[in-house]
Amino acid sequence: MGGKSFCLVVALALIAYYIYSPLPENVDEPWKLMLLNAALRIVEHGGMIVEKLGLAHYMDVLMMITNIQYTPPASDEKVTVTEAKFNHVPVRLYIPTEQSDVLKRAVIYIHGGGWCIGSATMKSYDLLSRWTSERLNAVVVSVDYRLAPKYRFPVPFEDVYSVAKYFLQSSILEKYNVEPSRICIAGDSAGGNLAAAVTQKLLDDPDVKVKFKIQALFYPFLQTVDLELPSYQDNKNMPVLTKSLVIRFLSEYISSDDSLFKVLETNQHVPAEFNHLFKFVNWSHWLPERFKKGHIYTAPSHGNSKIGQKYPGILDPRTAPLLVDDIKLQGLPLTYVITCQHDVLRDDGIIYVSRLREAGVPVIHEHVENAVHGVLTFIAGPVILNVGHRMANNYIEWLNKNL
Ligand SMILES: *[C@@H]1O[C@H](CO)[C@@H](O)[C@H](O)[C@H]1NC(C)=O
Repeated sequence: MGGKSFCLVVALALIAYYIYSPLPENVDEPWKLMLLNAALRIVEHGGMIVEKLGLAHYMDVLMMITNIQYTPPASDEKVTVTEAKFNHVPVRLYIPTEQSDVLKRAVIYIHGGGWCIGSATMKSYDLLSRWTSERLNAVVVSVDYRLAPKYRFPVPFEDVYSVAKYFLQSSILEKYNVEPSRICIAGDSAGGNLAAAVTQKLLDDPDVKVKFKIQALFYPFLQTVDLELPSYQDNKNMPVLTKSLVIRFLSEYISSDDSLFKVLETNQHVPAEFNHLFKFVNWSHWLPERFKKGHIYTAPSHGNSKIGQKYPGILDPRTAPLLVDDIKLQGLPLTYVITCQHDVLRDDGIIYVSRLREAGVPVIHEHVENAVHGVLTFIAGPVILNVGHRMANNYIEWLNKNL
């Protein structure tokens, strides 16, 4: 075989390897998803190689996914878009152009990306904020919190917290003409994690008088004690977010110690003295029957890792908002939870729905059968998914009725 045909065979094999990924039958736009996934896997593998060679950090390579979607702040006839700093944290502000004396509603939006990538400046988040502002005639604050690995836990949490605290001051709400009783916090994935954690913490903050009216959580990450929930098992190799990438993001968020990744992968990372945490995420108790199918609950086994002592962040409710008593959940505002069937994080969201309901918090749960994780990030090019558009529309409609 000549050199050229050899190269051709290798190239075809590589293309086939990256493009082919087994997808669930009912998934929306399977071909688009396969191509999208191929592109993401190439970036991820590129990142691993670059990291092995010592050329750059894995997350620097993954940041490419964020950077290709960069869009500058651009105002149009309906919304004025500017960049500002709230308590030293960069935010992108969307303010309806229409002048009126009526107080406006507001949304604080927290983007996703595993605490390590993503930005409010990405085209898809920019679009979502623009649509929200335009259709609701609302002020939107999209937060560009600092990211791991450079800024690990609790910095991303603290950044979002200080933006919320700054914005909720009555002088600031007055400045932006916002009605204090009509403010929402929302976020997707790691952004949903931060939104949920910040909402919990704000309840206890005596300095903050204004509270959120509602929270909206798109396929949030909510717990760290059981990384073998049925959704982790069923969807561990699904497009966009694999189990291994979740664990990588989580370990980067918490520490530079790469043994943390290995310990988390075994799912035996919770020492016996933290036994009391398992009841908060016990899927045998909290998951509706249809999500349990084919799985048998086994009590989690304990490792002798000193994880609780060495990395207190991992079991902290600011990382894992599910790890709190019911008493901490009571008093949370009306919550909108979106989960996707073919998502590793599906059961985190569903368990939160069950626990909030048990605690008496009103919850609207929207479960999307034909979607994988992260579809909201694909409402703008290079890849656009219909299911992302539907999700964004439903969310904005829901906000319009409930905020
Ligand atoms: C989990 O829930 C099941 C069913 O409610 C129960 O039998 C089991 O003891 C629980 N396990 C833990 C570790 O909480």
